[in-house]
Amino acid sequence: MDLKKKEYIYKIKSLAREKNAVIFAHYYTRPEIQEIADFIGDSLALAQQATRVQADILVMCGVHFMGETMKILCPDKKVLIPDMNAGCSLADSCKAADLAAFKAQHPDHMVVSYVNTSADVKALTDVVVTSSNAKKIVDQLPADAKIIFGPDYNLGSYINSVTGRNMLLWNGACHVHSRFSLEALLKLKAENPGVEVLAHPECKAPILAVSDVIGSTKALLEHTIKSPAKRFIIATESGILFEMQRACPDKEFIPVPPEMTEGVGCSCNECEYMRMNTLEKVYNCLLNESPEMIVDKKIAAKAVTSIEWMLKMS
Ligand code: 13P
Ligand code: SF4
Repeated sequence: MDLKKKEYIYKIKSLAREKNAVIFAHYYTRPEIQEIADFIGDSLALAQQATRVQADILVMCGVHFMGETMKILCPDKKVLIPDMNAGCSLADSCKAADLAAFKAQHPDHMVVSYVNTSADVKALTDVVVTSSNAKKIVDQLPADAKIIFGPDYNLGSYINSVTGRNMLLWNGACHVHSRFSLEALLKLKAENPGVEVLAHPECKAPILAVSDVIGSTKALLEHTIKSPAKRFIIATESGILFEMQRACPDKEFIPVPPEMTEGVGCSCNECEYMRMNTLEKVYNCLLNESPEMIVDKKIAAKAVTSIEWMLKMS
């Protein structure tokens, strides 16, 4: 570890102690961010944990909607996010005005939204879900309920298939999860016979169809810890490999590469928004107590109901 990194870690830890701040990180962030975090988790665990900690400041190293969710659940705490530009292509694929118009066309439908949405969209939602609890929550809704599910089409199709529902699906997607190459995955499977494929439900249906375990980041991590197997093929953002390798140093994790577009393509399966969280930005945001997440009070008052329903039904 170079001196700069060590220095930042020391300074971040000291500032966090001094300011009574707690640092949260999603599994897709850079390894050094996961190393300094007090809590690492999937979207559900991060939201749940935020409501339990005693702190004046919460630093959310993840993406914008995660900071918003935290602020909505903890309005009295100062919520900092190292880079306000850390967005999410999936959340961006559903604008509140478009959802409002779609709801108006389907007035007899309730709205179930994935947590990867803006506060404005959550304010138009009946119940929020994450990939950890989507099946459990949809299973609890009345059998005859008409449901709009958004914005992730792949997760929605998967939940339809495991619940037997026929939810009306929004056509949104995560650019990272929708670009995994089926061809490369089939080649990896052929080269590694008997090795289980673990996939996040944001992947497209053909990827999920040839996967053995489908789950949230936390569920996939837990599977690698519990399973006696020594090797796994992983179809999700590659940041999770750091935590998998840390938890299981004797096991091997083989990432599925993304599709090549017209021979060029992107050679990585990283979420560039998650990677915007750096040690320098964490330090600066703690030092300056900025950027601070602010959510419009009227929007927050509506959005909190759909998030609290999720927490109650999880
Ligand atoms: P998890 O809830 O599984 O952590 O997923 C969040 C996310 O952004 C996946 O792309
Ligand atoms: Fe959003 Fe995809 Fe990045 Fe997750 S991996 S934060 S869904 S863009």
